[in-house]
Amino acid sequence: MALRVFHTLAELRAALAGERRTAFVPTMGNLHEGHLSLIRLARQHGSPVVASIFVNRLQFAPHEDFDTYPRTLERDCALLEEAGCDIVFAPSESELYPQPQGYKVQPPPELADILEGHFRPGFFTGVCTVVLKLFNCVQPRVAVFGKKDYQQLMVIRNMVRQLALPIDIVGGETGRAADGLALSSRNGYLSADERGRAVELSQALGRLRQAALSGLDEAGVARAEAEQMQALQQLGWQPDYVTLRRQADLQSPTAEDLRHGEPLVVLAAARLGTTRLIDNMEV
Ligand code: PAF
Repeated sequence: MALRVFHTLAELRAALAGERRTAFVPTMGNLHEGHLSLIRLARQHGSPVVASIFVNRLQFAPHEDFDTYPRTLERDCALLEEAGCDIVFAPSESELYPQPQGYKVQPPPELADILEGHFRPGFFTGVCTVVLKLFNCVQPRVAVFGKKDYQQLMVIRNMVRQLALPIDIVGGETGRAADGLALSSRNGYLSADERGRAVELSQALGRLRQAALSGLDEAGVARAEAEQMQALQQLGWQPDYVTLRRQADLQSPTAEDLRHGEPLVVLAAARLGTTRLIDNMEV
């Protein structure tokens, strides 16, 4: 069936009335292959497949790229149709936020004020608020989020659990370019020279991952993290963090965790020129 695009909540609700197996992929548009793989994954989990396209002001700090974030609705819809999406919900700002959004979802600081939340204060409040609102609009049974935004996936999983939302959260693997760069809408901001060097971020993570696999104690973790921060700095990056964490709660692993094979993940965020990129790899 042809893709249907709705801009109002009333139209969306009418189209989804009676659906009990809806699979949902929230996006901010400017789509790439990584998003399309989430749509294909959503297809395996439910029907109809609904994608939202909404650049959410609440999750941008005043100095961030809200105004310049690429809005490419027509191209996005063509790609979504090809990938097997059934419905696009693309509300205007006044449709989704008809009044200033006074009620907000405040995720717990131990999860939301570390890593991305430390460098982007309020980011996860903005994300949780819009995602909960979109969940209420779409009422999906399943929602798919990319592991590329690893902390976001975890924050949403916890929100769904703690608020007892009847939605399964599925994590999709990170899509990568041929050289290993994680696919991201913000890669489009890189100059040709920066794009050539951007893979250095995942290479630093790969080295930290290898070090973790070879067996580290707590001092070894601190050393390996510092080495990769310095490696990026020497290459002209401005890293915010390059770190090894527990998959379960994104806290630093204890000596006991390191001895007993606790599942771990390496995560990094760094600026190349004016573009801030994030990436991660499970260990
Ligand atoms: O990952 C994103 O694109 C956004 O954070 C999301 C989940 C669509 C909420 O605005």
